[in-house]
Amino acid sequence: MIFEQNKSLLPYNTFGLDVRASYFAEYTSEDALLEILDEYKRSYAHLPLLHVGRGSNLLFLKDFSGLVLHSRILGIDELESDDPSEVLLRVGAGVVWDDLVSTCISHSWYGLENLSFVPGEVGASAVQNIGAYGSEVKDFIQSVECVSLLTGEKRVFQVEECQYAYRSSIFKHELQGQFAVTHVTYRLSHRFTPNLEYEALRTTLNSHGISVDTLTAQQLRKVVIGIRQSKLPDPKVLGNAGSFFMNPIISKEQFEQIREKYPTIPSYPINDTRVKVPAGWLIEQVGWKGRSLGPAAVYDRQALVIVNLGDASGADILSLYNSIRLAVRMEFGIDLQSEVNFILK
Ligand code: EPU
Repeated sequence: MIFEQNKSLLPYNTFGLDVRASYFAEYTSEDALLEILDEYKRSYAHLPLLHVGRGSNLLFLKDFSGLVLHSRILGIDELESDDPSEVLLRVGAGVVWDDLVSTCISHSWYGLENLSFVPGEVGASAVQNIGAYGSEVKDFIQSVECVSLLTGEKRVFQVEECQYAYRSSIFKHELQGQFAVTHVTYRLSHRFTPNLEYEALRTTLNSHGISVDTLTAQQLRKVVIGIRQSKLPDPKVLGNAGSFFMNPIISKEQFEQIREKYPTIPSYPINDTRVKVPAGWLIEQVGWKGRSLGPAAVYDRQALVIVNLGDASGADILSLYNSIRLAVRMEFGIDLQSEVNFILK
């Protein structure tokens, strides 16, 4: 038996839920993953399979009656590139995301600064298309190496094939649950070109007296981490999964109707006909910010975040999620979607 049994998933979900997996296996290489998949097919194929990273986007609604897989494929390797201005890095899916960002900055490999301190691992970065402060990881991905969980075949997806969109990819939709990411190749730059498109970054730099002309990547990383820490709770202290909701994209007509009643509604244009509005703002307007329902609460500094006050269950968090969705639907006619994946089995 190469699987651990009745494994606590506490280290694999940032909500801090003490749920258990019937079986659990971790692997450090593609070959080890293939062995695990062989064993699974031979004796456990009747059970569901779930591949996790750090679980910073998962909500377990009960114990998982199946096999949970976790990658510990490590390594950050520089590949040869034809373009001397760029750096190609092949990174193991089990590398902690922020360790990658900090390694890159210390080697003067630039691009990922605004994604500092995003929780999770490299594999999930490519599935989720993580984003923050005006950057999305898709803009730095060259290709994603995977192993099929169904057939064991290796497959490389070029970035164009990954169907990247806001917090979304082919791995979350058409191919959901079908592939394990083993490595991601990122294309970074030797030249530091800060992305200061996001207003909060510019105002914070300003208030720290840091000039854009002399700004270093290390300084930008510090500012990003500072903003994140001021708005987002530390999962080690208060269980949470970062943004619980996605920012909804609505039609311009609907946006204009809402704006008649709420002239200060913030918005980001997507194209000529569609507008993204911040879910945190909508939730705050309907009065849920800082409020709790049993042992689950809406974080008082960022209404996008649901926190576990101590002993919440997945069901408690789900009840709060449903109450918030209902309130936002009644007031704004908008159906909020969760960014977190619910694990029901
Ligand atoms: N706002 C409120 N009330 C709140 C929260 C936000 O009115 O409680 C308003 C803010 O005043 C601002 C707007 O909403 O006008 C946007 O807020 P913020 O800049 O804090 O960003 P966000 O849209 O709430 C998104 C991402 C975060 C990411 C930040 C920074 C999503 C769902 N969330 O949040 O991602 O860190 O931008 O780029 O896209 C995550 O995915 O886990 C995550 C934390």
